[in-house]
Amino acid sequence: MAYQMQQHDPRNTGLAPIAFGAQRIQVDDKRIINCRADLNQLVPFRYPWAWEHYLDACANHWMPQEINMAADVALWRDPRGLSEAERTVIKRALGFFSTADSLVANNLVLAVYRHLTNPECRQYLLRQAFEEALHTHSYQHIIQSLGMDEAEVFNMYREVPAVHHKAAWSLAYTESLTDPLFKTGTPATDQRFLRDLIAFYVVFEGMFFYVGFVQLLSFGRLNKMMGTAEQIQYILRDETMHLHFGIEVINQIKRENPQLWTETFQSEVLAMIHEARELEYAYAMDTMPQPVTGLHASTFDTYLRFIANRRCRQIDLPEPFAGAENPFPWMSELVDLKKEKNFFETRVTDYRSGGALSWDD
Ligand SMILES: [Fe+2]
Ligand SMILES: [Fe+2]
Repeated sequence: MAYQMQQHDPRNTGLAPIAFGAQRIQVDDKRIINCRADLNQLVPFRYPWAWEHYLDACANHWMPQEINMAADVALWRDPRGLSEAERTVIKRALGFFSTADSLVANNLVLAVYRHLTNPECRQYLLRQAFEEALHTHSYQHIIQSLGMDEAEVFNMYREVPAVHHKAAWSLAYTESLTDPLFKTGTPATDQRFLRDLIAFYVVFEGMFFYVGFVQLLSFGRLNKMMGTAEQIQYILRDETMHLHFGIEVINQIKRENPQLWTETFQSEVLAMIHEARELEYAYAMDTMPQPVTGLHASTFDTYLRFIANRRCRQIDLPEPFAGAENPFPWMSELVDLKKEKNFFETRVTDYRSGGALSWDD
């Protein structure tokens, strides 16, 4: 009887009473959302890609404090080491990222985890949540090493409009999911959950990180701020995995629940991607009113069109900016570990399976 109760409990979180004597799990009982089968049994896998992501992520473990910041500190302290425009770019990027990864982690733990009802996906979410903690640790390591005003940098999303707008945009999508009474199981609430996943995985981690990544990595290409650039490179690789996992989840939800992917919903998602591109371009213009490290803010217009096309393609939407090309092909190369060593001519942590990560950004 207890098992029957659990079977029909629409709020299956993994913490329901354990039905003693219940039958064993069949792989077909598993669902990515609204699953009624036991969530504490990892196997049998229904989504082997989730487990592969988990294994790849573990094989690429790194820690921020392993990276030497001495050269960055010397350059930052040298009054003639960097121009004011260069310092602004670095500070703004750190200002955005230092709270962005906490936002992502809070969304994962407080909203996504509860409603993604699959143990192998949750296994990856737990790994991703730890990586987000490492990323926040990494930004803290950089900010502290350089002796920046921590209050100024960490509070930037409350003080600088271009930084604030991106964070505020994403929060609107997670707020309703953290309501303790919110639950999936109706077309409207399932769509709301899917919208949150798209906002965080496709837009926040898939678009809002990229101007900052390009900016900080461009210093590394000039042999400046190498410790910072090296950390960003590892973060970029982690984020590439987060993005690809998120896209798998989104597409799997669509496959299992095709009724959610209506014309209206697709238009809404396209509108989100357009808005995101505008916000990210405004951020590029705000942080780079003049060219820095050989980059001009207007180049990001093309880049963001290219990224928006790619994100749409990844979730089977038509490309909104046909023909946009990547003005920064070196960004894709950076995700591939083998090319990294020549790129920055710096030490490379020996990853067991880093070579397997050859995805595009
Ligand atoms: Fe992150
Ligand atoms: Fe992430």
